[in-house]
Amino acid sequence: MSHVINADILKNYSFAVSAAGRINIIGEHIDYCGGKVFPAALSLKNTIYIRPNATNQINLCWTTLDEKVTLDIDKLDSYKNFKYGNYQAGAAYYLQKAGYKVLGCDILSDCTVPFGSGLSSSAAIEVSTIKALLEISGQSMPDKDIALLAQKTEINYAGVNCGIMDQFASSCGKKDMAMVLDCKTLDCEYVPFVLGDYALAIVNCNKPHNLVESKYNERRSETDAALAILKTALDIDCLADLRPDDLEKHKNLLNERLYKRVKHVVEECERVNLAKKALICGDIIQLGQLLNQSHHSLDKLYDVAGFELNALQAVLTSFNGCIGARMVGGGFGGCCIALVEGDRLNEFKKFVADGYTKITNYAPSFYDATIADGIVVQNLNN
Ligand code: GLA
Repeated sequence: MSHVINADILKNYSFAVSAAGRINIIGEHIDYCGGKVFPAALSLKNTIYIRPNATNQINLCWTTLDEKVTLDIDKLDSYKNFKYGNYQAGAAYYLQKAGYKVLGCDILSDCTVPFGSGLSSSAAIEVSTIKALLEISGQSMPDKDIALLAQKTEINYAGVNCGIMDQFASSCGKKDMAMVLDCKTLDCEYVPFVLGDYALAIVNCNKPHNLVESKYNERRSETDAALAILKTALDIDCLADLRPDDLEKHKNLLNERLYKRVKHVVEECERVNLAKKALICGDIIQLGQLLNQSHHSLDKLYDVAGFELNALQAVLTSFNGCIGARMVGGGFGGCCIALVEGDRLNEFKKFVADGYTKITNYAPSFYDATIADGIVVQNLNN
């Protein structure tokens, strides 16, 4: 099975609709605390080839899976436990619930965002499915609202109590631009992603995932609990509103675990502001240092890194042409991003593959990706 799309496939479908995976430069585990995050959409993406079929069914197949799944459009709420097709079903279900018409159709999905990589394959699938279903029925919705509907799908259908970062980057990302997204207001400022002599590397630690969703939801409820406690003493709407000195003044209200979680949130919010300034000024060395600080905070204070991501981050930063690296996404596995001297990437990959495999027995994967548009629609005229 491969990602190859030939002329025959293009002849058979009405639209090709893609939505991007994402990296997050910095601002991890703060989107659901009302913080600003700094993601960018990737050229790794999910593409939906779609055509209406004049039935009551959505037929799904994949370029890389030997599976076929049929969904009844009158029973879209009943596919939560499907191994394949659950995200598409959930996206269609929430679109329908929002009052939009969902037509029967045939869908071929092609996902180049690696699953379980922390690069948001699920957001890419949800966003592209919603947009594709809108296209074949001649309906429209602002990209921001598509992101919100996709987030609703992830929370209620997939059971991950996520923030808005992934779905927003997947739908509203722009080529060569990083996004400073205020998760409280959904205002988004675009900053050119220019790294000068450095290049972005994306490296998967390839630790098999398990219990990721429940650990993620646990962190989220810890921050909810901490907010509820701090609200008894402070006039704040979200943890991102908390000033560092106020946290110190009221730390006695929190147990040690909750204090560590909140300290990460408060300091990570500040690092996003500094990282934005560093990128705008072209101070990539400073950006690299912020990535390292973010990683250590996610490890020591937020406790979402784990052995493999820590080993990978340590190996990445021990290469003498790497100026910073951090885990990306929810954690407990998945990818690190690193800033590396642009003309030494091959040497870097070999160094990292050798060093990381020696420590963990897992071979890392490297993804060559660029910063790309979020949603892209191609009318195939069939
Ligand atoms: C996952 C979630 C996001 C965000 C990140 C951590 O990717 O889907 O909403 O919370 O983790 O920053």
